[in-house]
Amino acid sequence: MNTTIDSLLSRRSVRSFTEEQIKDEDLNNILQAAILAPNGKNQEPWHFTALQDAQKLRKLDELVVGKGNSFFYYAPTLILVSIQVGNAYEKEDTACALTNMMQAAHALGLGSVWCNRINANHEIDTNLGEFGIPDGYRVTGTLAVGYVKGDYPARRIPKPGTISIVRS
Ligand SMILES: Cc1cc2nc3c(=O)[nH]c(=O)nc-3n(C[C@H](O)[C@H](O)[C@H](O)COP(=O)(O)O)c2cc1C
Repeated sequence: MNTTIDSLLSRRSVRSFTEEQIKDEDLNNILQAAILAPNGKNQEPWHFTALQDAQKLRKLDELVVGKGNSFFYYAPTLILVSIQVGNAYEKEDTACALTNMMQAAHALGLGSVWCNRINANHEIDTNLGEFGIPDGYRVTGTLAVGYVKGDYPARRIPKPGTISIVRS
């Protein structure tokens, strides 16, 4: 099978990571995949913040789920997607960027999972300057990335009946 297609079809969400930090080159490729993702009217209204400071990661976790838990599965890298407040394509652009990053991470042999919680909490999603989010931007999604601990999840069996092909 074509390697790109194989990679697209085998990506899974990974929720268990080793402590080892990902390589700078891999992070850079994942971020390139993000900034080159399709986006509405090519406005590129986004900013990507790669958080690799363990202390800050735990502090963010504490804000989101309280002390002693990790909403980000203790991944060594968390990429926060933020979008200029008020942009009409906020959700669509976020999804395109996150999907590109997940696929890039998988192609590089890394695991990742979209962690949504900050986006649902409007009290904190625009107040994250200390975590590298620019003023006027709102965090709309996050991606935990790292090396997979244990086995990579098996290919997902999709729900049947979700495709129609209409031909003449
Ligand atoms: C919009 C969105 C939000 C998600 N939020 C979370 C989340 O907060 N935590 C989590 O563990 N997984 C989250 N996921 C991952 C989904 O649970 C996962 O994609 C789905 O179960 C299908 O599994 P797969 O990615 O392994 O194919 C999210 C995915 C999407 C697209």
